[in-house]
Amino acid sequence: MRVLTVVGARPQFIKAAPLSLALRQAGHQEFLLHTGQHYDYGMSQVFFDELGLPEANINLDVRSGDHGQQTGQMLIQIETVLQAQKPDCVIVFGDTNSTLAGALAAVKLHIPVAHIESGLRSFNRQMPEEHNRILTDHCADLLFCPTQTAVENLHREGLADGIHLVGDPMLDAVLMFSKVAQKKSQIIETLGLQKGNYLLATIHRAYNTDTPQALSALLSALQALNETVILPIHPRTRKKIADFGLLDTGKPSKLRLIDPLSYLDMLVMEQNSRMILTDSGGVQKEAYFFAVPCLTLRPETEWLETLENGWNTIVGLNAEKIHHHIRYATRPNQSPRPAFGNGQSAQEIVKIISSK
Ligand code: UD1
Ligand code: UDP
Repeated sequence: MRVLTVVGARPQFIKAAPLSLALRQAGHQEFLLHTGQHYDYGMSQVFFDELGLPEANINLDVRSGDHGQQTGQMLIQIETVLQAQKPDCVIVFGDTNSTLAGALAAVKLHIPVAHIESGLRSFNRQMPEEHNRILTDHCADLLFCPTQTAVENLHREGLADGIHLVGDPMLDAVLMFSKVAQKKSQIIETLGLQKGNYLLATIHRAYNTDTPQALSALLSALQALNETVILPIHPRTRKKIADFGLLDTGKPSKLRLIDPLSYLDMLVMEQNSRMILTDSGGVQKEAYFFAVPCLTLRPETEWLETLENGWNTIVGLNAEKIHHHIRYATRPNQSPRPAFGNGQSAQEIVKIISSK
């Protein structure tokens, strides 16, 4: 079978790693299309170098832009590649502009679309990701859901065919790479940290970064914690901090901004942090997989399972809530429930694709 996989943004390289391996092991031919949505070394190539993902067969080098411009450029170019490659199936991941462009290009050419991480909903129409997910799910022929909640979301929208509960390929990736990360990564030593004695934060959601009010509220809340907070900074956030002239106060603070981390370094940083503060979907889940308490810097989450027993708490931009949880929250006494499958979702997905 000839499969064309569309990737473009950081979390998609990570999700593609176990899947690409499973496709090869099953004897399928994979054509890897990189849209070029992410292009800095630390946002793209590092994951290919570290995770054994084959080099992309083509990189469209679309780069950054407004939604219409970026998605439109991808759509035009993906269509041309699909017409030349004529794959039997197109695989897309998650909810980025690359996901939507891949799904839309394929469905118009009557090529079956497989959507991995299908059925996630925030019910927040302010998020570009929410439009991308809904539209992609409604284009897809195979809807691979990571959780039962995702299956139910699809049913509620009247979707019934092609839905498969397969677990989460991000858990596959964590299980595949955690051991090697522990062996190889020197990040704790490099940053001069002590295990369990720092907080890890990530911020990149448009609604948290794109207004000076939201971004400065978040950064001030992190600065005020008076605890070491490591913030591997997404390029979007770095740019906005510069544009808005934030963090130029010269005030001493234990907030440390560092470049984006490689996946192996990130896994080690997550596993050893006292608590994680994030607006990332993937990082919320990884916190749960590692049983590290998480505060979600958003008004809601798609990953409802992570909220069970208090492993993840929604705090939005509320500095008081953030402080309260960092100071007083106790570790949940029940282990996280295995709600994201058994780490074999890539094999499961490939089995189902192969049977079509
Ligand atoms: C995108 C996805 C988001 C996902 C995130 C993962 C959409 C609408 N958003 O958000 O769902 O959670 O990726 O990280 O698809 N930039 C660089 N170098 C890069 C990439 C980006 O400098 O390699 C900067 C540019 O200034 C760009 C900005 O980051 O304008 C935003 O990049 P973009 O890909 O549009 O969205 P993300 O915020 O990365
Ligand atoms: N990640 C990483 N380095 C970083 C920050 C995140 O490798 O500096 C990984 C993280 O471990 C997770 C994925 O990137 O696997 C999450 O991607 P991101 O937060 O960019 O997007 P989202 O999951 O919110 O779509």
